[in-house]
Amino acid sequence: MDTVQKADVLVIGSGIAGLSYALHVADFASVILVTKRGLGDANTAWAQGGIAAVLDPEVDSFATHVTDTLTAGAGLCRRDVVEMIVEHGPAAISRLIELGVDFDRGPDGDLLLAREGGHSVRRVVHHADSTGEAIEIALVDRLRRHPNIRILEHHLAVDLITRGRIAKGQRQCHPGGKGDRVLGAYVLDTKAMRVVPLAAQVVCLATGGSGKVYRYTTNPDVATGDGLAMAWRAGARVANMEFFQFHPTCLFHPHVKNFLISEALRGEGGVLRNAAGEAFMPRYHPLRDLAPRDIVARAIDSELKQSGADSVFLDMTHLPGEFLEERFPTIFATCMSLGIDIRAQPIPVVPAAHYQCGGVQVDQQGRTNIDRLLAIGEVSCTGLHGANRLASTSLLEGVVYAETAAQQTRTLLAQPLDATELIVPEWDTGSAGDADEIVVVKQSWDEIRRLMWNYVGIVRTNRRLLRAQRRLRLIEQEVREDYWRFHLTPDLVELRNITAVALLIVESALSRQESRGLHWSADYPETDDEHWLHDTVRQRSPSE
Ligand code: SIN
Repeated sequence: MDTVQKADVLVIGSGIAGLSYALHVADFASVILVTKRGLGDANTAWAQGGIAAVLDPEVDSFATHVTDTLTAGAGLCRRDVVEMIVEHGPAAISRLIELGVDFDRGPDGDLLLAREGGHSVRRVVHHADSTGEAIEIALVDRLRRHPNIRILEHHLAVDLITRGRIAKGQRQCHPGGKGDRVLGAYVLDTKAMRVVPLAAQVVCLATGGSGKVYRYTTNPDVATGDGLAMAWRAGARVANMEFFQFHPTCLFHPHVKNFLISEALRGEGGVLRNAAGEAFMPRYHPLRDLAPRDIVARAIDSELKQSGADSVFLDMTHLPGEFLEERFPTIFATCMSLGIDIRAQPIPVVPAAHYQCGGVQVDQQGRTNIDRLLAIGEVSCTGLHGANRLASTSLLEGVVYAETAAQQTRTLLAQPLDATELIVPEWDTGSAGDADEIVVVKQSWDEIRRLMWNYVGIVRTNRRLLRAQRRLRLIEQEVREDYWRFHLTPDLVELRNITAVALLIVESALSRQESRGLHWSADYPETDDEHWLHDTVRQRSPSE
């Protein structure tokens, strides 16, 4: 008897993209949604700034929002995608409001709009400084009440099940080649510590990003690039991984990791100062503190290298204290709890890895090159971000692609696969034993995160990239051996994934012989439109 759990649609991930998509498709299909921790444990919940959309036609227009996005993207955005997302912006905000998200409004009831780097006008809707959390709470509430959605929390996706993989009968996941089709995924039930297969007509990856590949990041622990690594192993095309965005302002404090100091603070007049107290941004860009992120992050990096200081400072002390307390309650309270009164003292900040602009390459419906495998949100590369993401556009991208991918899902389900095709094999544990050396996994994790920070950060050189590549190849080999020698643990699964993602970043960076957007190479400091005005696309060959 076939005991494998099945649904029309399998959604992997529970951030804004996965939750919104699941809510759309549950209107016409059965859904299993898996998430590796609790439902609300997603990068989305950490987003502070907000969502950019054209909501004030007196000062803003679609054309201006498109231009700002293209400018930040440094020549690599896809104009059709940018226009599609920008034009869907107002409707996306309305849908979130319908779903219960409570964006901040002024006394007249109009939505309050904030400004962030790279935006020429105020257009960011927000819920104080915890917009992502407000969205996540509203969507999770809807999802939990939906009768067509089966939620599997504490289930970590391990690998995709594809027709090619089944045909080859291999335990290791190899690309199935042209015309391959996804049929489900193996997931590790992290409470029972058992790998189970899930089968579905359509699989949608919404697993978010991979900030944990770097030692310092604004991302939560869940951001280990699982979906990207799975898709890569299965033969999906992956694009633009060299473009990893560093947020200019992460709190610098010995006892707190990953705490973002939102760009919205600079949008309200915050000024970056170096250790000597100088407001340095006018030396780097005419937009000063509101220049695009890649420029601000590089400026800070340069100030730190020149002065040897541990951090620069974001100065808000010239703004009214009551305003700061009300507009940024989370940041205000967190800093205060650490002894930093932002009304009276500048906030120590450093850049940290923030957003993966590359990802699984998709079309406007979220389709990958593997049949029936969709990817949406940060795991995907749609063409919106190009070489550098404009602030507060990723939540928007997630909501818009949730809708277009849901329309595509309806089309796919109208041509259902034969039930026999969805008979998928159980996970083969082979002769695996219990992992006894946690220290080995931990050592490799630390090594990767440290070398990515030191060798593959804001400013790169060929020499450092090649060193990183050599070390990562060695770790990849060791992880491959451990993978089949030991029973899977979440740490081992995630280590395998961050190794794959780190290698993709390094090898994409090595291949781009120019500087553009977020990829800055001291060996090729110029932007070279003649040779490099295109995506960096990588794909595993079936023989790898
Ligand atoms: C922020 O609040 O600065 C983050 C917004 C974003 O990354 O889009």
